[in-house]
Amino acid sequence: MALVGLVGWRGMVGSVLMDRMQAEGDFALIEPVFFSTSDAGGKAPAMAKNETTLKSAYDIDALKRCDIVITCQGGDYTTEVFPKLRAAGWTGHWIDAASTLRMDPSAVIILDPVNMPVIKQALTKGGKNWIGGNCTVSCMLMGVGALYKAGLVEWMSTQTYQAASGGGAQHMRELLTQYGTLNASVKALLDDPKSAILEIDRQVAATQRGLSAEQTANFGVPLGGSLIPWIDKDLGNGVSKEEWKGMAETNKILGQGEGFGSAAVPVDGFCVRVGAMRCHSQALTFKLKKDVPLADIEAMIAADNAWVKLVPNTREATIRDLTPVAVTGTMTIPVGRVRKLAMGPEYLGAFTIGDQLLWGAAEPLRRMLRILID
Ligand code: HSE
Repeated sequence: MALVGLVGWRGMVGSVLMDRMQAEGDFALIEPVFFSTSDAGGKAPAMAKNETTLKSAYDIDALKRCDIVITCQGGDYTTEVFPKLRAAGWTGHWIDAASTLRMDPSAVIILDPVNMPVIKQALTKGGKNWIGGNCTVSCMLMGVGALYKAGLVEWMSTQTYQAASGGGAQHMRELLTQYGTLNASVKALLDDPKSAILEIDRQVAATQRGLSAEQTANFGVPLGGSLIPWIDKDLGNGVSKEEWKGMAETNKILGQGEGFGSAAVPVDGFCVRVGAMRCHSQALTFKLKKDVPLADIEAMIAADNAWVKLVPNTREATIRDLTPVAVTGTMTIPVGRVRKLAMGPEYLGAFTIGDQLLWGAAEPLRRMLRILID
């Protein structure tokens, strides 16, 4: 039975991963070793079998014993530990949620319902580094990967509506605290049905602008009742790092573009943080290489994988099934608002949503584990 080291299993993504591994019976197939960056020597969680004590996540010798290491600990941990582990001669499989190694030529960005052939080819060549993709990209490809697989996409523009969880657990708390503060600031006026809405609005704006540095410590500015059209680093060329990832990762996942000897499909747009909890949504505009009937496009999308769900392009179905609230905590990837756009028959619009902690983070990792051990 493979010895599998688990690092960062207590954090938000790690906890979702543990839940999914339990739900899918993964622990029955492995000998888990739980690592900790802060509690070495402590008691491992209930899923432990023979290895009931937490090992130090910085103990290279302990990590070296593992056939497979899965980490949700974050980029700083990967930067510090991964090179040391490889330098120590470890030849096991490294499965990682962090972005650190994603664009490394030795790494495959894993999303097997979309890129199983890329994964299989890398395995044949002795690949050992398996990295989860950016959440927005992974959720998008789970929804509309069929169009890419069919070679139909000339380019795609994406406008995202990304949830607070993409920033981390503290960001979710900050958002909810801000909502509470805003509500409290106008509670008396809200309770009075005769109060003036413009007075409520004025007070809410004053409260938002008056939030302290502590109340906006994670996002830097208010998010509750607002939005932030910049995610991740400023690359200095007018593009955010999150926007850059859209094209770089989409093409790498699909095994095309730079490093694969083929042309990359242009992907560009704007990434926006909104006050949703853990579902990333995105409006997509495609320029297709040819005019394909809408019914054929819908059929391709619906048949692509077991989790994608085509939502009829009606008001009723959309507001019921195509919202973060409908999707949160589920594996379903709805794709709706699918229609030809006014620019011409090759222009296609769609809207898709995914839980960024499930398909966007934890699920591709545990599925890679299963590919390696099954
Ligand atoms: N960069 C993403 C976000 C996190 O901030 O929403 C998931 O990759």
